[in-house]
Amino acid sequence: MLNIAVDGTSASGKSTICEMLAKKLNILHLNTGALYRSYALYFILNNLPIKSPDDADKFFEKIHIKVSFESKKQINLLNDKDITTLLNNPHVAEYSSIISQNQKVRNKIKEIQLNLANNNDILIEGRDIGSEIIPNAKFKFFITASLEERARRRYIQLKEIDKNIKYEDILNSLKERDFKDMNRKISPLIIPNDAIIIDTTNKTIDEAVNLMYEIILKG
Ligand code: DC
Repeated sequence: MLNIAVDGTSASGKSTICEMLAKKLNILHLNTGALYRSYALYFILNNLPIKSPDDADKFFEKIHIKVSFESKKQINLLNDKDITTLLNNPHVAEYSSIISQNQKVRNKIKEIQLNLANNNDILIEGRDIGSEIIPNAKFKFFITASLEERARRRYIQLKEIDKNIKYEDILNSLKERDFKDMNRKISPLIIPNDAIIIDTTNKTIDEAVNLMYEIILKG
């Protein structure tokens, strides 16, 4: 099976690039952040506050996460309900960041990822894919861009929704997020030794996709 591992920093263009690249290669694309977000959504829908990663333990048996693909599009299921459209909000993001530090949750999500990787040609996108989930993947990429450029991109995105948003606030929150992602005890975001770094600071999305595509074609 063709397995491609893609990790990288927040707002590096990673998800868009992965989606386009998988399409071009005609293989599945798994966004693993959505799995952590699916867990988090359970707590939000049931009004259960999450303050520390251990808070997830009590409810572990009640939460069943699944992923399916319809026409290669990822569908996320929480206790058999399609919750794909509910995952992209800041509250879910905040809870998922805490929940992603729960080892039981990580083990369960790892099982889902390995099952998909063993049975499909697939590009898996996340934070620990090349280092922890599929270290033997044929291709490993790490996508990033300068902090300032990532903040600029996110600012443009968020300005559409909230006119009062400030660039400095976004820059600081990205900086904090990088620090947390790279310094947490469980599965920190690291650049695997054998990963190819794709720096998108001065690249368009298309340029980054084409570069990765060429690397894969050359094998
Ligand atoms: O990429 P995202 O924002 O959708 O991810 C949601 C949370 O899950 C984020 O706090 C990082 C975490 N995550 C992780 O720990 N490991 C992954 N492979 C993917 C996401």
